[in-house]
Amino acid sequence: ASKSTDKMVEAHELLKKFYHHLLVNTKEGQPALDYLLNRGFTKETIDAFEIGYSLDSWDFISKFLEKRGFDLSLMEEAGLLVKKNNSDNEFFDRFRNRIMFPIMDHHGNTIAFSGRVLGDEKPKYLNSPETKIFNKSKLLYNFHRARLHIRKNQQVVLFEGFADVISSTRAGVEQAIATMGTSLTEEQAKIIRRNVSEVIICYDSDSAGIEATMRASKILKAAGCNIKVAMVPDGMDPDDYIKKFGEEKFKHDVIGASVPIMTFKMTYYRRGKNLHNEGERLQYIDSVLTELSRIENAVEKEIYLKQLSSEFDLSMDVLKEQTFQKEKQIS
Ligand code: CTP
Ligand code: MN
Ligand code: MN
Ligand code: MN
Ligand code: MN
Repeated sequence: ASKSTDKMVEAHELLKKFYHHLLVNTKEGQPALDYLLNRGFTKETIDAFEIGYSLDSWDFISKFLEKRGFDLSLMEEAGLLVKKNNSDNEFFDRFRNRIMFPIMDHHGNTIAFSGRVLGDEKPKYLNSPETKIFNKSKLLYNFHRARLHIRKNQQVVLFEGFADVISSTRAGVEQAIATMGTSLTEEQAKIIRRNVSEVIICYDSDSAGIEATMRASKILKAAGCNIKVAMVPDGMDPDDYIKKFGEEKFKHDVIGASVPIMTFKMTYYRRGKNLHNEGERLQYIDSVLTELSRIENAVEKEIYLKQLSSEFDLSMDVLKEQTFQKEKQIS
């Protein structure tokens, strides 16, 4: 690595420790610490994930870095500072009065931050921009910490957000990573596949999360993963669920009850449909057959065809013929 990227990482490492200190040891950090503890974060997870707090100041970090000899334009390039209007050499702090989640690359180097507001202001999370050291499309949050657990469990659980990963880890499901709100990329899917084949998608159970589950499953399948879905009920997210129902229930009734992607898709295509209505029933069967025509494993295909056959009292011959027609259309 070049000297300038080393300096960028060094600044992130230093600030990570400083932000953490501000959160856990200072009066200024107390409201942020109270917020986290109220949400169910523990001292232990706050330490393990090195969560911090950035002061409500426009220049504390600029001065802090300048005093330690860091080049401020380089710090701007690193995403820690922002250029003042019409000025090439004046800067202000990017992160102010936020709870700071450090983001580590796959080797454990701190390369970015995401800062959460304490209240309901927007944006809820402010992220470091893409930089020489932070490649968003390749990064998976917590991959570095989760790696050994992924190997041990031969499985990874994929979440939407930081809080979900952290609460899941507290619940003992430590093979936990997150995409940080953006859609899963092909690069991320390839990185996952290089380490493990079984992926449990555990996104939020709101409509955005459900749609994102469908999209992510497509990308993961193309990368060769074996996909399951674990979804909490009622529009909650995994972190909400753990807070409400506890760690054990999450482990057994959510992660332990994950279903194959095809089962999730069947539920998805049923949503909002009245299967007593002939037109809607036909639509549903057609969507499922389209999915089945894309399954290569003959046994797997047969299992779902049997389900359809018995549920709707249709002959296996007709269903197979229809699937075969669809396969021909695809190829
Ligand atoms: N996110 C983001 N910028 C936003 C909103 C969300 O980068 N303005 C990312 C964050 O990584 C967040 C993830 O998307 O963790 C999922 O978004 P959401 O479900 O809205 O947030 P939660 O993780 O549930 O946040 P919290 O529990 O702290 O409210
Ligand atoms: Mn500590
Ligand atoms: Mn969400
Ligand atoms: Mn969420
Ligand atoms: Mn949440």
